[in-house]
Amino acid sequence: MRMVDMILKKRDGGVLTQEEIAFIINGYTKGEIPDYQIAAWLMAVYFQGMDDHETAWLTEVMAKSGDQVDLSSIPGIKVDKHSTGGVGDKTTLIVAPVVAACGVPVAKMSGRGLGHTGGTVDKLESIPGFRTVLEKEEFLRIVREQGLCVIGQSGNIAPADKLLYALRDVTATVDNISLIASSVMSKKIAAGADAIVLDVKAGCGAFMKTMEDALQLAKTMVAIGDKVGRKTVALITNMDIPLGYAIGNALEVIEAAETLKGNGPEDLTEVCLELAANMLFLAKKGTLEECRGLAGKALSSGAALDRMKAMIAAQGGDPSVLDDPAVFGCAPIVHPVCAAKNGFITAMKTDQCGIAAMVLGAGRETKGAAIDHQAGILLLKKIGEAVAAGEVIAQLHTSSEASVAQAEKILLAAIAIGPEKPAPQPLIFERIE
Ligand code: URA
Repeated sequence: MRMVDMILKKRDGGVLTQEEIAFIINGYTKGEIPDYQIAAWLMAVYFQGMDDHETAWLTEVMAKSGDQVDLSSIPGIKVDKHSTGGVGDKTTLIVAPVVAACGVPVAKMSGRGLGHTGGTVDKLESIPGFRTVLEKEEFLRIVREQGLCVIGQSGNIAPADKLLYALRDVTATVDNISLIASSVMSKKIAAGADAIVLDVKAGCGAFMKTMEDALQLAKTMVAIGDKVGRKTVALITNMDIPLGYAIGNALEVIEAAETLKGNGPEDLTEVCLELAANMLFLAKKGTLEECRGLAGKALSSGAALDRMKAMIAAQGGDPSVLDDPAVFGCAPIVHPVCAAKNGFITAMKTDQCGIAAMVLGAGRETKGAAIDHQAGILLLKKIGEAVAAGEVIAQLHTSSEASVAQAEKILLAAIAIGPEKPAPQPLIFERIE
């Protein structure tokens, strides 16, 4: 087989066979096929799509491209959680300790930022000393002892996805249903959990802009999970507005800490409790309603905050960041962004908010680029809130003076102000089982 023929076949709308997909993925993982040919193939997939069989084969070969984690040494039902990516999405930092506080072990491998969206690993690495790369034995030991551990998709777990993920990030080939479904599910299958809760984001800040695409992505992933014997539930959640007020790594950890103390933004708290309740439900902790109660109690009692502190300490980080944000230090530049007129914020181009944060240094523009953990945006106002001309509606945090003007321009263009208060939007659209 020749890679150029695979690119040609997909470019012209052909359906690849199981063998052809295995040839592409295994060849790339072994370093036998170069980035530029895979980039061309990804673009062909982006435009031509893949059918259900191709998507399932792609998932399978990616899941088997490296080690498969064996979580059997951890007692109980292990439930994993994954978000398809959003702006201000720091849910794992809250959901994982809530679930662990309810006695359900969380052994989680998370990703880095992708495109305009943030990643849990980047957020955790903003905590001084925090280690996201652990040997398997240490990872399992921390889960057994502390009830939770969150690491990067390190070592040899779905290495094919790791390579493709980084390449897609910088070749504008992220937002394709088959590529996202196979990326998410290959990791989740290889990571060994018994059940999976998916947070499928829908809206202008998500990779799936429409409800229709988000539904299709959710159904594709739930079907893949069920096919391989991992009970999977997907929630479709609103990404037409950033989640919470903080966008950027350290800023989001600070907001997550406030949420764990019960002082978090309402939208973030609601989505986190619903995700946690669904994880507890899959772990057979009760009816969904009972699980909502358990999750709420874990948050209000401070038990989840304690779990998060224990996890940070076990992974080498300084848990005092949760009590004192000053431990993070602050970006040297904090620039106020002001409303141009009176009115209400009526819409936010959420992907543009993510791009503005990236420009400030919170995300990567090229493969493997370093990020500035302190950089990002602290929104002071969101959709539905009244603003006055000249009022500060956001702060830009950065160490790059040169990025401020561009980020401010992008952010101001992303925020629409009108005379009427808009109707509130639902946060959770659907649950697919
Ligand atoms: N999250 C993933 O893990 N993969 C994608 O492709 C998109 C979001």
